[in-house]
Amino acid sequence: MFEIKYKDGAGRAGVFEVHGKKLEMPYLFPVINPKRQVLDVKEIEELGFNGIITNSYIIYRDPALRQSALEGGIHALLGFNGVVMTDSGSFQLYQYGSVEVSSREIVRFQDEIGVDIGVILDIPTPPDVGYERAERDLEETLTRAKEAARLSRKMLLAGTVQGSTYAGLRERAASGIAALGFDVHAIGGVVPLMEEYRFADLARVILHAKLKLGHAKPVHLFGAGHPVIFAFASLLGCDLFDSAAYALYARDGRYITARGTYKLEELHELPCSCEVCAEHSARELKGLEAEEREHLLAKHNLISCLEEIKRVRQAIYEGSLWELVEQRARAHPALLEALRVLKGYSAQLERLEPVTKRSAFFYSGMESLSRPAVARHIERLSWIERRGAELVLLPDCEKPYSRTYRLTSSERYHVCIASPVFGIIPLEIEETYPLTQHEGVATLDREQIAFMRRVIAEYAQRFTKVHYHTSLGFLGIEGEAFDEVSQFRFEGGEELKLRALADYQLGRGAGEVLFAGAKAEYSRRTGRIRRAFVDGELVATLRASDGIVVPTIAGAERLLRLRYPRCRVVVAEEARQFAKEGKSVFAKFVVDCDPEIRAMQEVVVVDESDELLATGTALLSAGEMLEFERGVAVKPRHRRR
Ligand code: GUN
Ligand code: ZN
Repeated sequence: MFEIKYKDGAGRAGVFEVHGKKLEMPYLFPVINPKRQVLDVKEIEELGFNGIITNSYIIYRDPALRQSALEGGIHALLGFNGVVMTDSGSFQLYQYGSVEVSSREIVRFQDEIGVDIGVILDIPTPPDVGYERAERDLEETLTRAKEAARLSRKMLLAGTVQGSTYAGLRERAASGIAALGFDVHAIGGVVPLMEEYRFADLARVILHAKLKLGHAKPVHLFGAGHPVIFAFASLLGCDLFDSAAYALYARDGRYITARGTYKLEELHELPCSCEVCAEHSARELKGLEAEEREHLLAKHNLISCLEEIKRVRQAIYEGSLWELVEQRARAHPALLEALRVLKGYSAQLERLEPVTKRSAFFYSGMESLSRPAVARHIERLSWIERRGAELVLLPDCEKPYSRTYRLTSSERYHVCIASPVFGIIPLEIEETYPLTQHEGVATLDREQIAFMRRVIAEYAQRFTKVHYHTSLGFLGIEGEAFDEVSQFRFEGGEELKLRALADYQLGRGAGEVLFAGAKAEYSRRTGRIRRAFVDGELVATLRASDGIVVPTIAGAERLLRLRYPRCRVVVAEEARQFAKEGKSVFAKFVVDCDPEIRAMQEVVVVDESDELLATGTALLSAGEMLEFERGVAVKPRHRRR
């Protein structure tokens, strides 16, 4: 029902299939008010929405609506054949303190009226309440969740994570909800955080919930309907959103953009070219009758939301979601604050970060230094085996660095670039994404300098001697300054390079097993290593676009000398033959894998007796491929003959 197609950060783009109807994720459900709807459902459908959300409690409480829904079903009532999700009355519970229906009753009702996705009657606990209340509310929500999960039903059901602003309670809630087999995992109780621009707290709430929710179900972030938050929440792994904001804001004359909200009276220009804004000037809109103005504003607002959701999906596809989030973070300091919170969750986020992407890494300011891709790079530097050498540090320059400097590393010298974005880049691995595929600025921030100093000082400890180019004096490096680069010019070093690439990409010791004694073949056009042979046998190719080492079957055999389950994806007996024939490995057949596998990494496919079947590219991280029941885990490359 839920299948990931593309990943970026912890974000996912894919398809959620509900009763044969497909929602493109991340997906935004426009909220429909069954009593007073500014935008006709037909207009919403024409904009391209094939799923909407409405409130079953409002329908339940209104005798006429209720009868109509029970007789003809929710789709007929709304005049909509797409996916209909309904909320349960929890929001009314939050607003008014009580509702006149039980959880069991409203869940039954949602199913009876033919809803596609229903929601339990969870208790939205506001932020900052006392711990005891938050815990008590949560226990009640979990009791209701257990009860609802047992009811037999046709509809899909969402269970909601509550727990106020307590990280421990959010985790407990998420573990509890995840254990109950819901079709959708929702994160609730965040409306006040949205309203008060407490995006840093929102980030923590999402991160703690996601930590225990697992990967296999779509995650709905309730009540986060403003586009300023879509990129951010998607980056953290939220897949579904609902927006009432488009209509509520229109009612108060507010104009939504992905950079923030404007009051219509304050607008001199309409900074948008949607059908509303193309046909009206700001002045015309202001002069309209209230009802028509509200209608047009709602339409513009919803289009703005939709555009941002599409932008997010495109960013996930191309791998620029971090860049988009960093842009959005400049829209309001509260968003910047939220971005800075992510630094503390780098390890959690790194596990889900793909190792290579379609688009380059763009530095957008000091926050970029806290991205998981940078933390990963620094961690992996320590995987490169390099003993007894002297470290040579050169300033950043045009890429590829080794071509600019006409240098390679040698047995004696380990040549590195002092990088303002990655701290230090050994020449051996420079082609690996994102080390070549990044753009920085030439004028350094103070934070970059401090960062470079820290990374270099730590790395330099591994070497017997350090030489640094005189232009790097500002880094306060302990070592010997030099002017003349040519003194470090040596021939060879190709085995060192290959081994460093394998260590860095596939983990400690991979270079030794894959490339000991290797000889390289160079591209005549670029002068770069294309293929590597050991004893005359081709063991790997080096992908030109992102420097990824792609092992052949012979290479894979060598990698299997690494201790189980290193580099491996293990398929179940029933899928063994398919994998052997070079077919995709589906996640549901993955029985075990190297826990260090990251999306887009090259892997070895084996059966349960560790016999080599094929090689391929992991499309999911280790945790995801173990949990998912749908979708491709490994895209095949070579099969064993
Ligand atoms: N709508 C906005 N917040 C919430 C929430 O916490 N739970 C539910 N069910 N709906 C919501
Ligand atoms: Zn517009």
